[in-house]
Amino acid sequence: MTQPSSTPMKGILLAGGSGTRLYPMTLAASKQLLPVYDKPMVYYPLSTLMLAGIRDIMIISTPLDLPQFQRLLGDGSQFGVNFEYRVQEKPEGIPQAFLIAEDWLQNAPCALALGDNLIFADHLSTSLQLAAQRTTGATLFAYQVRDPERYGVVSFDKTGRALSIVEKPAMPASNWAVTGLYFYDNRVLDFAKRVRPSARGELEITDLNRFYLEDGSLHVDRLGRGCAWLDAGLPDSLMEAGQFVNTIQARQGMLVGSPAEVAFRMGYITPAQLRTHAQRMGKTELGRVLTLIADSA
Ligand code: G1P
Repeated sequence: MTQPSSTPMKGILLAGGSGTRLYPMTLAASKQLLPVYDKPMVYYPLSTLMLAGIRDIMIISTPLDLPQFQRLLGDGSQFGVNFEYRVQEKPEGIPQAFLIAEDWLQNAPCALALGDNLIFADHLSTSLQLAAQRTTGATLFAYQVRDPERYGVVSFDKTGRALSIVEKPAMPASNWAVTGLYFYDNRVLDFAKRVRPSARGELEITDLNRFYLEDGSLHVDRLGRGCAWLDAGLPDSLMEAGQFVNTIQARQGMLVGSPAEVAFRMGYITPAQLRTHAQRMGKTELGRVLTLIADSA
């Protein structure tokens, strides 16, 4: 029996897959490096993990794409965090990430963010940090959608406890979709090893989550109507995500999904480091806003 761990939570950013639903855009480029308005897609889930207080992050991608992620993100020092890189030879399902990360995990609790998921909400950092500090169980975030059959779907009892969780159900029991952001205690690796391939031949994250549900330690945080959860896996959703980021940034002058800003606000980097990062962005609007943030410190 694995004992609860006091080691800080680690994080995995899963950016694999072949992005077939975005062909031809993904024939020669990784889906998670495509632009969502003014930043590469992977910046958004990366910012989310960092906002949760996670500083040891493994980036997993295909053998072909991984070098591009290394070129974009480096060793993490520009954001005051540590990046580790691993290859997923074949896309055989989300829980495979934990098997790939086994030796690196070293019994730490671990969060997992899908590289094409974007969450934007007021007070999000509080919920994220709470999830990252929970020493037992798993925390998922659910969001109401019009088309739940495209996702993992969770249903609740009258007291708000999760009752069932089903992957892409033909007849969804609710319209609460499970978002691609998961927080697990240090039993996650044991559970991941017990997941068997589904009918579509993949290890399903929903099967892993069901172990926690059956164990009575699954927490599901329901994101309210003031939140936005977007996945950028289809041409329409990719464009909508970009428009969303543009709308918020243009209206409020604030950034969405900037790891440099998060690093600065979390105290991982100094104003001088933020300024250096901003200078690397050249004459872009992003660079200008980052400089303003560094100057306001
Ligand atoms: C995956 C998960 C699903 C989850 C979704 C979130 O779906 O299997 O449970 O709701 O991510 O983006 P996939 O992207 O593999 O269709």
